[in-house]
Amino acid sequence: MTSTEHSRRKYDLLADRYEDLFFYVADLGRRLVDLAAPAAGDRVLDVGAGRGAVARAALAAGCAVTAVDSSPGMCRRLAADHPTLTVRQCDAGALDVPDGSFDLVTAGFVVQVLDDPARALAEFHRVLAPGGRVAVSLERQTVGRLGWLHELNRRYFGGGTGAEPMTADQLDGLLTAAGFTAPARTGAHAPKTLDGPDRLWTWLGDQGLADAVAALPPATAQRFRAEFHDGARRMHAEGGIVLEFGATLHLAATPG
Ligand SMILES: C[S@@+](CC[C@H](N)C(=O)[O-])C[C@H]1O[C@@H](n2cnc3c(N)ncnc32)[C@H](O)[C@@H]1O
Repeated sequence: MTSTEHSRRKYDLLADRYEDLFFYVADLGRRLVDLAAPAAGDRVLDVGAGRGAVARAALAAGCAVTAVDSSPGMCRRLAADHPTLTVRQCDAGALDVPDGSFDLVTAGFVVQVLDDPARALAEFHRVLAPGGRVAVSLERQTVGRLGWLHELNRRYFGGGTGAEPMTADQLDGLLTAAGFTAPARTGAHAPKTLDGPDRLWTWLGDQGLADAVAALPPATAQRFRAEFHDGARRMHAEGGIVLEFGATLHLAATPG
């Protein structure tokens, strides 16, 4: 299976629960559209639209919105939930839309999951009218008070894939290399308090931790669960279980 097929399958499986699991995307989708401040009637293309966190906000601002995603499951849900959206299934690196046909391209938490982000940004540039703008959000990795959990994961599951997440500077560099001018960015936080250790276990379990723990030898899995619950109980007692989600929101333009 290629990484593109793998990604499509992953998001298909997540489609029904996506915005429940990733609680921050709706709020940050609104903030990305607020930053771009499109005028009513602007033609907006939302790439990697998912369940519509960004597209919804652009619709609410009175824009004419086309939403594209490579996952058929996401596209099905987008079309069913938002009848006023134009929905297309296509790849960010080969957008099925004419040159110069949009005023604003948005992409919420998409660029960093692509195999070839430079190619996608070149496509964003191609489909924008002169003076058009691009608004992109990027997840910022923050450990914060969850250091104990990162350490636990490292001990039981190793050091991860080795792929370093894209930084905000790298994204601004890619925007400039694609021909966008004056990239500007702002930070955004979306903290969420979970009401106890069991809720943290369920939230992470839904994102794959439950399967990963179930694949460990039974005695090791039992030790992991015990250590997890000790860590989570301590965190809960010492200020609560707060997930500190952070992002940067980037805005740039094509030459007018
Ligand atoms: C992290 S989700 C973000 C969804 C949405 N933009 C939001 O802010 O909630 C990434 C989305 O990009 C889509 N995606 C991944 N690779 C893609 C590609 N090559 N072309 C188009 N969409 C892609 C996924 O199917 C998924 O819906």
